[in-house]
Amino acid sequence: MNVLVVGNGGREHAIAWKLLQSPNVQKVVCTPGNGGTALLENCLNLPIAVDDFAGIAQACTDHDVAFVAVGPEVPLSLGLADFLSERKISVFGPKKDGAIIEASKAWAKDLMNEAGVPTAAAGTFNNPQAAKDYIQTQGAPIVVKADSLAAGKGVIVAETLEEALNAVDRLWAEGYTTLVVEEFLVGQEVSVLALTDGKTIRPLLPSQDHKQIGEGDTGENTGGMGVYAPTPIATTEIMAQVQTDVLEATLKTLQNRGIDYRGILYAGLMVAPNGEVKVLEFNCRFGDPETQAVLPLLETPLDEIMLACINQTLAELPPLQWYDGSAVCVVAAAAGYPGAYEKGKIITGIQAAEALGATVFHAGTKLEGDTLVTNGGRVLGIVCRGHSFEQAIANVYQAVPKVQFPGMYYRRDIGHRLKKA
Ligand code: AMP
Ligand code: GLY
Repeated sequence: MNVLVVGNGGREHAIAWKLLQSPNVQKVVCTPGNGGTALLENCLNLPIAVDDFAGIAQACTDHDVAFVAVGPEVPLSLGLADFLSERKISVFGPKKDGAIIEASKAWAKDLMNEAGVPTAAAGTFNNPQAAKDYIQTQGAPIVVKADSLAAGKGVIVAETLEEALNAVDRLWAEGYTTLVVEEFLVGQEVSVLALTDGKTIRPLLPSQDHKQIGEGDTGENTGGMGVYAPTPIATTEIMAQVQTDVLEATLKTLQNRGIDYRGILYAGLMVAPNGEVKVLEFNCRFGDPETQAVLPLLETPLDEIMLACINQTLAELPPLQWYDGSAVCVVAAAAGYPGAYEKGKIITGIQAAEALGATVFHAGTKLEGDTLVTNGGRVLGIVCRGHSFEQAIANVYQAVPKVQFPGMYYRRDIGHRLKKA
């Protein structure tokens, strides 16, 4: 069969790569894809934007596509799954009424409260003064969030009252008219990407992202600078609790609201030092870069999993098969990221990294003729597996320096919280 993947990041490269490992998949079409998917055998990039729904539907017809796998949240929240379903095109990813779980933090908070899902105490405000009054009563540290999709720029973790009050003014001035103000939670963050067909929900292996640019988790938040999986912070007991209290409770409430959710439900969790779990956020899609570490561990063909979600046969799918070990992904970023950065730098050494056993997923690259150049802030995700976490870390940090481009920056401490634990 042929599969169409929507998106152009490292996550979509990993999805296309994993799909192509399946004996059932002949061709993957990426709309629009990136320099990495351009280089994959049996993979075709088409220059169709993620919000060009008619163009994506046409590509499905032209390329005899069995189903569409949607990577990013924006097309899902704009209704891509609705558009394709109306045209009888199978799609992995929730419709608009489910994707709102990521697009509106206030909506998600309300759902969690109705479902009894443990989450930070919060208030939702439609005027800045009310938000500020609430902040004054709660004190700092406190977290201020824009309600809508803000590409990672809408969350301010404020250490002081002044920062929190300024955050309200800034978000309001930027046009965010609904704000969520939330209790500051302490602990370790864990990402649980769960598969659901709307009736059954099953987690993939838990992972830990590193969101900040600087080593030791310092500096600005980014799209994610590295990740490892599985994370033992999510113990068997914690995963059992996540299954019932978070995943099943959320799915039941979605069902009660008449929402037929099929795809990935991503729970961003905070695990407190005493093991207590609270949900920080839900996303309606695979995580980036979590996918780049989780999919290399998956041995069950990805198309079978996605089709089970689409066809509502997830309960009958045999237990997922996993590689017995760990995977670590280190992100190579452009100098200046997450601030301003330059593009068009020549990339070398990918084959040398691959010769050491690494898989290199492209996030922001493009081919200029035969030359691979940087085309984004997060440029590459370099992934290695190992039979232990320590081995995976050692493998990846041998491979990363083989890859080079002018100004390349990467964190040398991915997995540091686990190493200290
Ligand atoms: P979100 O998009 O809601 O996941 O927030 C982005 C990042 O902000 C999270 O990954 C956390 O690092 C941080 N964050 C969000 N909410 C909280 C909270 N209630 N307490 C502490 N940190 C938070
Ligand atoms: N890695 C964070 C995210 O995908 O939202």
